[in-house]
Amino acid sequence: MLILALESSCDETAASVSRDGREILSNVVYSQIDMHALYGGVVPEIASRKHAEKITAVAAEAVRQAGISFEDLDAVAATCAPGLIGALLVGANFAKAASLMLDVPFIPVHHIRAHIAANYVAFPELEPPFTALVASGGHTVIIDVEDYTKMEVLGTTRDDAAGEAFDKIARVLSLPYPGGAALDRLSKEGDKDKYKLPRAAVNGHPFDFSFSGLKTASLNLIHNAAQKGEEIDRESLAAAVSHAVADSVVPRVVEAALQKGRKKICAAGGVAANSTLRGKLTDLCKKKGIELYLPPLNLCGDNGAMIACQAYYEYKAGNISDCSQNCYANMAVSEQLCGR
Ligand code: KG4
Ligand code: ZN
Repeated sequence: MLILALESSCDETAASVSRDGREILSNVVYSQIDMHALYGGVVPEIASRKHAEKITAVAAEAVRQAGISFEDLDAVAATCAPGLIGALLVGANFAKAASLMLDVPFIPVHHIRAHIAANYVAFPELEPPFTALVASGGHTVIIDVEDYTKMEVLGTTRDDAAGEAFDKIARVLSLPYPGGAALDRLSKEGDKDKYKLPRAAVNGHPFDFSFSGLKTASLNLIHNAAQKGEEIDRESLAAAVSHAVADSVVPRVVEAALQKGRKKICAAGGVAANSTLRGKLTDLCKKKGIELYLPPLNLCGDNGAMIACQAYYEYKAGNISDCSQNCYANMAVSEQLCGR
């Protein structure tokens, strides 16, 4: 089964063609990062307009690189939630129009489910059930993946996402947007113990996170140093932030997996590229006898392949839709997009 999938939930215009889910025939990403970097963050209106400009060329390139023609497609899919609503609508409307013209089903895909599916692309033998950690610019969530389309949220952030905390701290450290990767690189030269940063817990909710205190504490350190005319040790602060995030995330996801009796953990999302997080997760999983799946860096961030892969499993579960399908800025990963 050949599926063309579009991704336009944030600042990447992406398209991919998959065969039977896991075989990726093409994976084209047009990044708008340079444009948003001028403003230090994603400007939703600019994102929507850029998606509208690029979506046709990106989709056509994905079909061309797959060595097929539009008429060969069996379905067209797009991310329909969660994300920037104006941005989501561009990819979804393109996909709906294509499905109408080609007379093939339209498959709406949940972005967080798709991040998890990046692991199916990277690891052909991987099958649910497992526990997933999705950490991105907008989400930090622990999910029990019972089946390809059956999921339960075990823990989530109460305020900022881990990626958002990385990006805000990186911005004040004058690192280019999006700062997560740059902060990660900087952290390798630092002393993680030089600055003390908080690791927050949410009373009565052992798997929930809070990163706003970490963000505020880091920004206060930077501003206080500036007021006193002292120079902040940027490398050591970057190391302290990376360790604080990893220390908040790693024990929780491992404990959640153990409590659910799962033997496997999959990481996903842009923040899953973080080297400190990957290192600490690797060590603790080894200690607890849990099999760990860490996708390659190019499949951690937003891409079309993860949408094209998840779309196949949504199709197999009967989750197909039509031109009346809407998009949603927020939506739980456990909910069904079809018929909403
Ligand atoms: O999954 P993603 O590409 O987009 C969303 O769906 O949000 O995640 C983007 C986030 C940004 O906050 C970015 O700074 C962060 O992932 N990120 C990292 C690293 N690489 C990307 N954060 C920490 N360390 C990294 N190496
Ligand atoms: Zn994402």
